[in-house]
Amino acid sequence: MTYSLIRNEESLKAQMEDAGIELPVSKDAAVLTKPLKIGTRTAANRIAYQPMEGCDGTPDGVPDELTVRRYVRFAHGGPGLIWFEATAVMREGRANPRQMFLDEKNLDAFKKFVEGIREESVKTTGIDPIIICQLTHSGRYSKPNGVPEPLVAYLNPLFEKDKPLDPDRVVSDDYLDRVGEALINGARLAEKAGFDGADIKSCHRYLLSELLSAYERPGKYGGSYENRTRLLRETFGSAMSGAGKDFIITSRLNVYDGFPYPYGFGVDPGEDLKPNWTEGTRLISDLSSMGAKLLDVTMGNPYVNPHVNRPYVRGPYEAPEHPLFGVHRMLTGTREVRKNAPNTAIICSGLSYLGAMGPRVAAAGIEAGWFEMAGFGRQTLAYPDLALDITKKGGLVPEKLCMACSKCTEIMRQPGGTPGCVVRDSGVYAPLYRKLVLGQNK
Ligand SMILES: Cc1cc2nc3c(=O)[nH]c(=O)nc-3n(C[C@H](O)[C@H](O)[C@H](O)COP(=O)(O)O)c2cc1C
Repeated sequence: MTYSLIRNEESLKAQMEDAGIELPVSKDAAVLTKPLKIGTRTAANRIAYQPMEGCDGTPDGVPDELTVRRYVRFAHGGPGLIWFEATAVMREGRANPRQMFLDEKNLDAFKKFVEGIREESVKTTGIDPIIICQLTHSGRYSKPNGVPEPLVAYLNPLFEKDKPLDPDRVVSDDYLDRVGEALINGARLAEKAGFDGADIKSCHRYLLSELLSAYERPGKYGGSYENRTRLLRETFGSAMSGAGKDFIITSRLNVYDGFPYPYGFGVDPGEDLKPNWTEGTRLISDLSSMGAKLLDVTMGNPYVNPHVNRPYVRGPYEAPEHPLFGVHRMLTGTREVRKNAPNTAIICSGLSYLGAMGPRVAAAGIEAGWFEMAGFGRQTLAYPDLALDITKKGGLVPEKLCMACSKCTEIMRQPGGTPGCVVRDSGVYAPLYRKLVLGQNK
């Protein structure tokens, strides 16, 4: 089946009819211009730029030229919140040799970077954005030296069918205790570096996210809901008690993985990959009762089922469902899991496939109380000033839209690949695409 970019309301309507999917559409995107209180802080508008890793830090793990370029473009784009990309807290947990890495030695470089981004935003848009640092351990997807060095919560025959892993790749409870400590320390460093908050990342099947489905793991981190969520909850709690009153401790959370039981969180054991929102709802409620002021909801695994994680026009395989089905699952799933967390602001994910209609669909979701902020991922690489166009001009123009063509991730999957938008930021990224993906030297 061929899918196409959604340029206007008519093309959204036609695709909804085709897919048999109904998404709410607001008459305009005005609600996205409204401020949002998050703890003691206020986001200037309801637009969040989701974490978008560029694999372009220095070998030491601090922002390099392309990283700074990306965030300056974001800062000039006017979002109320910038969720800074995956930042490792243990060297062996880096997903690539140029992934960000936060430790005492790098602190000054991060301080300067955060200060610089904030200044750029204030100077050009008048907005002091909320900047969150995403703290991670890449677990199964660790590649600190450019080759896979997986550290997994449990062996998974679905993911390992072509390449079985040695059982010694399964991390011990003691190791997980140390991951928790490193994340807590990471949150402390993020606060010192001037970020407004720290994300105890638990999504996309990196280590903490994988633990959520460790149904068959023995010991204190496997089996029951309490055990599978223990590392996240306890780390979250300790990070909160160590943080200043204005600092936001948050999490980007997978509430549905899209893999069958016993290998996927949030999946109904009875039926084919059907979402079961019970544990996601409970987890969000638990974090909310611990005082979480902000959570970012997402789904899927970018390596194994990217059609769940980021519905696309063109991707690594033909998706088994209409992309609007994936968008619908993201948005209605977010509505479901937030039901027992009225005091926690929720950010949604997966809007980029909606093209020009992303803002109006997100606005309808906010108006209906499904979530409080619209989170844009790929769209930010293609259209870094999307927030200004929404807040000042009322919407997005088709010529600047993300094509959902997956070329950014094609670059990312190549050794040394530094992803960006090949189509809309072609001066920098088209030559990289030609060289790394197409194997052309010019
Ligand atoms: C190139 C690229 C880098 C990404 N980096 C991160 C990351 O560092 N952390 C994260 O949680 N998600 C990351 N994501 C996922 C996005 O934040 C987002 O969840 C996903 O693209 C779906 O949202 P969208 O439809 O708006 O693009 C990345 C996605 C892409 C394509």
